[in-house]
Amino acid sequence: MQVITTCAEMSAACRATPRPIGLVPTMGALHEGHLSLTRQARADNVTMAASIFVNPTQFGANEDFSTYPRSFERDLELLAAQGADLVFAPPPSEVYPDGFDTWIEPGAVAEGMEGAARPGHFRGVATVVAKLFTITRPDRAYFGQKDGQQVAVIRKMNDDLNLGVHVVTMPTIREPDGLALSSRNAYLTPEQRAAAPVVYRALQAAESQWQAGERNASLLQAAARSILQSEPQLSAIDYVSIVDANTMAPVEAADDAQRVMLATAVRLGSVRLIDNVVLA
Ligand code: PAJ
Repeated sequence: MQVITTCAEMSAACRATPRPIGLVPTMGALHEGHLSLTRQARADNVTMAASIFVNPTQFGANEDFSTYPRSFERDLELLAAQGADLVFAPPPSEVYPDGFDTWIEPGAVAEGMEGAARPGHFRGVATVVAKLFTITRPDRAYFGQKDGQQVAVIRKMNDDLNLGVHVVTMPTIREPDGLALSSRNAYLTPEQRAAAPVVYRALQAAESQWQAGERNASLLQAAARSILQSEPQLSAIDYVSIVDANTMAPVEAADDAQRVMLATAVRLGSVRLIDNVVLA
C-alpha cells in the first residue's frame, strides 16, 4: 500500500496503476461505515484507492474542523487490512495552495436540509470531490447513503460536469440499536448515546406508516417528529423532511412512483446527528 501526500504523485500513481480504479473518499476516523465502502471498492476494482482528508472548506466557521476526530495511524492499518493499494492523505496546503480560488457551486440539490443548516458546506464537499476525481480519475467512486443529500449533490455534479465517474451508493451501516455509525458519535456523552437510537426509531415509525400505505408527507413527517419530541435528551430538531431522493426537492404527496427519502437532523447538546431512510 502506497501512502501519497501530494496531488502530483497521486495523479502519477493513478495513471500508472491497472484499471479499473475504485476511489473511496473519507475524512478518516474510519469505522465500519467507511469499511463497507472500501470492501465494495476492493471487490469491484483492480486498484482500490482511498483518501483521508479532513476538508477544511466544508466546515463552517463555528463547526468542528479543529476537533474533528483524527486517527491517522489506525486508519492506515485498517486500509492496509482492507487491501487498499493507494492512500491519498494530503495536507490542506496541497489541496488548497495559497491563492486557490475556483469553486464548484452546487444548485438547488444543495439548497435545503444540510445546505440550509450549513451554508457553504456542499460547495466545499463538491469542490474537494471534484478535485479528488480529477487527481485520481477513478472508474468508480463509493459514497454512503448515510449522507443522502451529499450523494445527491455528488451525482448531480458528476452528471452536470460530465466527470464520467460511476458513482456507487452503499447502504447505511448501523449499530445494533439502530444508530447510524458516524465519526461524530464519539462526541456523545453516555446519556446522549443512550438516547441517540431515537433518531432511527423515528424514521422507522414513519417508514412503517409508509408501508401501511400512508403517502401524505406532512403526516409521515409528523409521525417521525412526535417520536423525536418524546426524547428529552434531544435539544433541537433541525428538520424532518420528505424529499425526492434524486433532486432533494420537498415532496408533498409522495406516491409510489417516486423514490423518496425521509431525512432528519437533530441535536443532542452540541452534537448534531443526521440520518435518513429511502421509502421507495
Ligand atoms: P466522511 O464523513 O469521512 O465519510 C466518508 C464516506 O463514508 C461518505 O461517503 C459517507 O457517506 C460514508 N459513511 C459514513 N458513515 C457511514 C455509515 N454509517 N454507513 C455507510 N456509509 C457511511 O463524507 C465525507 O467524509 C466527506 O464529506 C467527503 C465525501 C470525504 C468529502 O470531504
